[in-house]
Amino acid sequence: MSDIRPTTPSGTDLDPWLDTYALRAFGLSASEVRALFAVASRPEVVSLAGGMPYVRAIPRELVAGAFDRMLLADAPAALQYGSGQGLPRLREHILTVMAEEGITASVDDVVTTTGSQQAIDLVTKLFIDPGDVILAEGPSYVGALGVFKSFQAVTVHLRMDADGLVPEVLEAAIRDQRSAGKRIKFLYTIPNFHNPAGVTLSAERRPRIVDICRREGVLIVEDNPYGLLWFDAPPPPPLHVLNPEGVVYLGSFSKTFAPGFRVGWAVAPHAVREKLVLAAESAILSPSSFNHHLISEYLESVDWRAQVAVFRDVYRERRDAMLRALEEHLPRLSWNVPNGGFYVWVRLPEELHSKQMLPRAVRELVAYTPGTGFYADGQGGRELRLSFCYPTPEFIEEGIRRLASVIDGELELVRAFAGTGSLAPRQDDGAMAAPPPDLN
Ligand SMILES: Cc1ncc(COP(=O)(O)O)c(C=O)c1O
Repeated sequence: MSDIRPTTPSGTDLDPWLDTYALRAFGLSASEVRALFAVASRPEVVSLAGGMPYVRAIPRELVAGAFDRMLLADAPAALQYGSGQGLPRLREHILTVMAEEGITASVDDVVTTTGSQQAIDLVTKLFIDPGDVILAEGPSYVGALGVFKSFQAVTVHLRMDADGLVPEVLEAAIRDQRSAGKRIKFLYTIPNFHNPAGVTLSAERRPRIVDICRREGVLIVEDNPYGLLWFDAPPPPPLHVLNPEGVVYLGSFSKTFAPGFRVGWAVAPHAVREKLVLAAESAILSPSSFNHHLISEYLESVDWRAQVAVFRDVYRERRDAMLRALEEHLPRLSWNVPNGGFYVWVRLPEELHSKQMLPRAVRELVAYTPGTGFYADGQGGRELRLSFCYPTPEFIEEGIRRLASVIDGELELVRAFAGTGSLAPRQDDGAMAAPPPDLN
């Protein structure tokens, strides 16, 4: 894996320690989403780029009340170090939250983490040696791809369609990787309201995916931060329900309460869970007792299910606004229709490239996330992700109107150049097909 070290001369004015870093440090790079935050957060830009939950939908008094009660009742413990696995009281509540989706587990099975992002990091740390293969949907969550890269894993993308991950594609990938002598360590999957593809794995496919992995001895890492944020009907039960011994399940309070607390969790088979606790303790000693007490208080004293229902209503309205605006302003494009979560995945006309088009979009005061950020191998130029979670319906409508003008302008330019023969036709992005969004 020495090829990831840049071949620049030793040290630079900017970084005299260039020769000193461990190899894995060269796998760390800013994600495209992160690079965008600076521009997209300017007030005049309509950002359809980030995936920030609309925390303003939580009445402040609810949080303030829980905060006061928690401090009065629990200050000494809340201000102290806690258990590396997480506050038992909070882990009890996590069982109740997961029961909403059909998971039964015991308090001992739950390991809390600093957001589910840290759970992804810890699981990867436990299982990946440089060169090991991780199977993941294509596209996949940018934060997970970054972790996989930093541990020098090889991410192999699996095609999705409107019903999510395709079982036959999974089977073929396992066969191909193994016959090429590769070690597959786990399947990383987001079955519900996928980030970024918006699709949900169908009920019919879930047991098939679990059976394939069980038969082939492939661990499943099921990342489910959006499962409770459904719009029309709840998604089918998690993969974990079908085979608790073969699935590491990841959950989070980031989307159903608030990401500012940075509290997520993992539920893992016994032996894996033991190692996860050790890895978590090694990383952070113990999670934030303060936040664990606060979230426990919130869950005990506030009707959190009603608050999740408020989030559902807010996001459903915004999803509808985005779909309406796409139909009105960009009827010739195709996209998926998400039944929950935060994202619409859009397919561009042949001639356009989402990353190349972005500077023009930002000039016209709209931001999106180019599809290329969601693949480990450079695919995704003809796709982009639109988030409807944060802007109001009016801003969403305005953002899509601006995007339509950007796309029209780009198309005009590309076609004018193509007409003069001075612009070579764009190459396709890669061998793997992207998920064909539902035709609208
Ligand atoms: C699919 C997925 N997994 C994990 C995360 C990380 O969430 P957190 O660390 O806030 O729990 C996100 C955040 O957007 C996500 O979309």
